[in-house]
Amino acid sequence: MGDRSRPEYQRLNTFAQENPRTSPLSFVLPSAHFPAVSLRSYPYLGRPRIDVPDSGTRDGARYACSDTCILMTVYFNGAFMQKADVSISPDDRGFVFGDGVYEVVRAEDGALFRLDAHRRRLARSLEAIRLREHVDTEALWNSVHELLPRNGLDAGSAKVYLQITRGAAPRRHAFPDPPPEPTVYARANAHEPPVQKWNEGVKVIFHPDQRWARCDIKSLNYLPNVLANQAAQEAGAYEALQVRDGFVTEGTHSSVAAVFDGTVTTHPLTNHTLPSITREVTLGLCEDLDRPVDEVPVAAADLPEADELFLMGTTTGIMPIVQVEDWTVGDGTPGPVTQDLLAAFRALDPA
Ligand SMILES: Cc1ncc(COP(=O)(O)O)c(C=O)c1O
Repeated sequence: MGDRSRPEYQRLNTFAQENPRTSPLSFVLPSAHFPAVSLRSYPYLGRPRIDVPDSGTRDGARYACSDTCILMTVYFNGAFMQKADVSISPDDRGFVFGDGVYEVVRAEDGALFRLDAHRRRLARSLEAIRLREHVDTEALWNSVHELLPRNGLDAGSAKVYLQITRGAAPRRHAFPDPPPEPTVYARANAHEPPVQKWNEGVKVIFHPDQRWARCDIKSLNYLPNVLANQAAQEAGAYEALQVRDGFVTEGTHSSVAAVFDGTVTTHPLTNHTLPSITREVTLGLCEDLDRPVDEVPVAAADLPEADELFLMGTTTGIMPIVQVEDWTVGDGTPGPVTQDLLAAFRALDPA
């Protein structure tokens, strides 16, 4: 792979030697008081959207529900209700500080993909923001199972979004004492696997990684990702590869890997990357397929030498990258290693 005499690698080596506990190479993850605002006041309620019926079934009819569709049953603070009846305080710390965490889980025909891994990651995120003991995650996950049939999503592809915040309290930075009830929300809607993009591959751009130093927590604080992804969209690209100190960390909603001489190379799990479940599954597939893996940071300047590049994510799947900025990856079509991994990924048992 890349030329290790490059200044980025030298800087990284020096940093690793000087900071043995926190370097990207060796970092080990340590282990309502005011009137509520109802979604009824949202402008789109005047013109509720019901999407083209193409996924899921209800009363024998097939239908789909987009993220913004209000005609769905959601789980909110211990009860199932219509999304339109959800009421969240403007003093909710998720709204005020982004003080919360979230998860996204894919489902196929009612089976949640890699549920245990998502459960572990949510528990870890809650632990990291010191909210775990206040949340009944068992009830939440049980509700997630029920959301699918309640929304006619027990057939076809679906995705479940769940979010937990520290709850509503007067605005003070430190944790409220006594702790308020956390706000717990989950919804499920239809998901359309991006088959055409899998077949054709996508373009990505580079963007400076402007995130905080705990990207390993799946927290609500995604503003840098939002800005980077917007830059990608404006450049006609699917994703932005975030670059920190010259090295590619990950995308804005996906992990990234490069193939150099047959070896799948991806950033190690550090505080600068999310422990992506699709990445974990993909590395498992590499093992099954006897494909070597190297978990090391790759300099952005070395990406043009990669034979193949691909993204990994819950809604992205394994996505071939065929263009970076204005240069073409390989021959401009999804490479053989990526295609093998994608085929193996699509053949996996959803549960
Ligand atoms: C920053 C970031 N990296 C990677 C991923 C991919 O993680 P997963 O495979 O668990 O969806 C996501 C998913 O949202 C993400 O937000």
